[in-house]
Amino acid sequence: MSFEPSAAPVPRDPALLGQTLVVIGGSAGIGLATARHARAEGAAVILTGRDPERLRTAAAEVGALSTAAFDADDSAALQRFFQNLPSPVDHIMVTAGHPSYRRLLDMDADQARRAISGHTALALEVARLAAGTVRPGGTLLLLGGTGARRVRAGLGIAPAVTAALPALTAGLALELAPVRVNLIAAGFVDTPLSARLLGDGLDARREELRAALPIGRVVVPADVAALAVHIMTNTALTGATYDIDGGQQLVG
Ligand SMILES: NC(=O)c1ccc[n+]([C@@H]2O[C@H](COP(=O)([O-])OP(=O)(O)OC[C@H]3O[C@@H](n4cnc5c(N)ncnc54)[C@H](OP(=O)(O)O)[C@@H]3O)[C@@H](O)[C@H]2O)c1
Repeated sequence: MSFEPSAAPVPRDPALLGQTLVVIGGSAGIGLATARHARAEGAAVILTGRDPERLRTAAAEVGALSTAAFDADDSAALQRFFQNLPSPVDHIMVTAGHPSYRRLLDMDADQARRAISGHTALALEVARLAAGTVRPGGTLLLLGGTGARRVRAGLGIAPAVTAALPALTAGLALELAPVRVNLIAAGFVDTPLSARLLGDGLDARREELRAALPIGRVVVPADVAALAVHIMTNTALTGATYDIDGGQQLVG
């Protein structure tokens, strides 16, 4: 049997040429990888994060249009940031924040309130501000996890928190239209956050996942970035949750 030689790639314009992406939490991990990918597709990127030095390094690496160092959980600082943005922007991605794996029964009411409202309150706050900032057809892209797909010991309150996000995303997609709103639900991604959470156990966890996952490797930030840029460019997508976990939820 003979095969035709594969065709030469068809030249195409960069997918985000002339567009602006704001990454709230863009100095490391999934946010930085998405900024990198978006730059390669022609976008201008605006990055935020709390640590100014880390932000400077990230901005220099990707050639960011601008940066702003502030805590996204500080409502006043978030509002000031939006007031100073060039308007309109095309896409906003929220990667700030981190999960809590506290045991449910070890949390008092205040700790539970903070854990449950943290991710959702930030998403809502950014959505309110995005309403006057993102152009019609642009996107608000949120980050959650797959913990709620298969609740197991050790995840504590995290599955309950992530379970709320798909419904929140769908509701926001209706209220923010024609801006599109989507959620990426990730399993383990090999980022600085994962390194911090796992400490000395990081290499063992990577090995365990390489052996167990159907894809035979761990998911890296560039994988999530490719999905994020696809969601930004595919104008049919809104109100939806996209799992990216290398099949992790199928194998425990
Ligand atoms: N990694 C995973 O396995 C995984 C899985 C599922 C979901 N997620 C979610 O995906 C998102 C990104 O995770 P990641 O692993 O990429 O995290 P990461 O490596 O820690 O990067 C997070 C980025 O956000 C910034 N950031 C964090 N908190 C912030 C705040 N309050 N205000 C402003 N900037 C803030 C960080 O910079 P500063 O620290 O300098 O602020 C950094 O630039 C998180 O919401 C996480 O819960 C991650």
